[in-house]
Amino acid sequence: MNSADLKKFIQGIPKAELHLHIEGSFEPERMFEIAHRNGIGLEYDSITSLKKAYQFNNLQEFLDLYYIGAQVLLHERDFYELTWAYLCKVHSQNVVHVEVFFDPQTHTDRGIAFEVVISGIYKALERAKDEFNMSFRLIMSYLRHLSEAAAFATLESSLPYKQLIDGVGLDSSELGNPPKKFAKVFAASAKQGYQLVAHAGEEGPVDYIWEALDLLKVVRIDHGNRCLDDEALVQRLCDDQIPLTLCPLSNVALKVIQKMEEHPVKKMLDKGLLATIHSDDPAYFGGYMNENYYETAKALALTDAHLMQLAINAFEASWLDPETKERRITEVKDYFRAVQV
Ligand code: ADE
Ligand code: ZN
Repeated sequence: MNSADLKKFIQGIPKAELHLHIEGSFEPERMFEIAHRNGIGLEYDSITSLKKAYQFNNLQEFLDLYYIGAQVLLHERDFYELTWAYLCKVHSQNVVHVEVFFDPQTHTDRGIAFEVVISGIYKALERAKDEFNMSFRLIMSYLRHLSEAAAFATLESSLPYKQLIDGVGLDSSELGNPPKKFAKVFAASAKQGYQLVAHAGEEGPVDYIWEALDLLKVVRIDHGNRCLDDEALVQRLCDDQIPLTLCPLSNVALKVIQKMEEHPVKKMLDKGLLATIHSDDPAYFGGYMNENYYETAKALALTDAHLMQLAINAFEASWLDPETKERRITEVKDYFRAVQV
């Protein structure tokens, strides 16, 4: 298939996005617009100079910039516009279901009320449900570079909005902040009815993936690239069909891998792992869902069978109710069958 045909083919696949940080969908143009409206100066004097700073050697260099960008978000309207823009974009890419991360501490630590953050995000998600028939789940992430006590305080702040939140996650600086630091707060979160996921094995070692499974008791691993270093872990992930939400463009941008050709997703699929593809922080890493599928498919020469498996896996790994899940998976299969004829 040539590039144009492959892009068109990927466009048509009904897709689910399960690994997306809403703050990471903040496009520079919108960041400047909102900064201006809120009277906040950015340390970059133009969109061009900001974009030039998007060169990262590791996760931390990216996070430093990501937290600076998020500082211009003050009002409910800002969170709403950020989220709505993301949803419009992925709707145009035939994404029909999203599970969105937000980082409350990035905002509450600056004095923004939890309610302001969640109301803006949630109103946009509800609009996408009404206007696009897009289903959604919302995941609150604890920042792992902060303390366990701070995560507990965030859990407490979330309780009045419990009905709006489906799960909790763990993100930010991985190295030096192992999952075990958050074992108690994850147990407390589960007691509140939240589902559990965690970033693990992005930059961190396989031990962190084991800890996420055994100590945090997560139902999905975000990233998990490093699992291939450990055969027993691969076996466990396969046996329990624990999803790995991979983000190929992110991995290249943050130098988790040196080039796309080295991405482990094909090996993972071939081993029977429940691997899925997502965009992580698309405004920073050069692409949304379609671009992640396209660049991966091209670099690894993925077959139609691989692409179909990736699309099915994402619905399988989602927190959709069983009937909707089944319906979406049937839609994916029908699409591949129709296009092959
Ligand atoms: N927060 C936003 N993007 C992240 C990533 N890729 N890893 C860890 N924390 C993040
Ligand atoms: Zn992430």
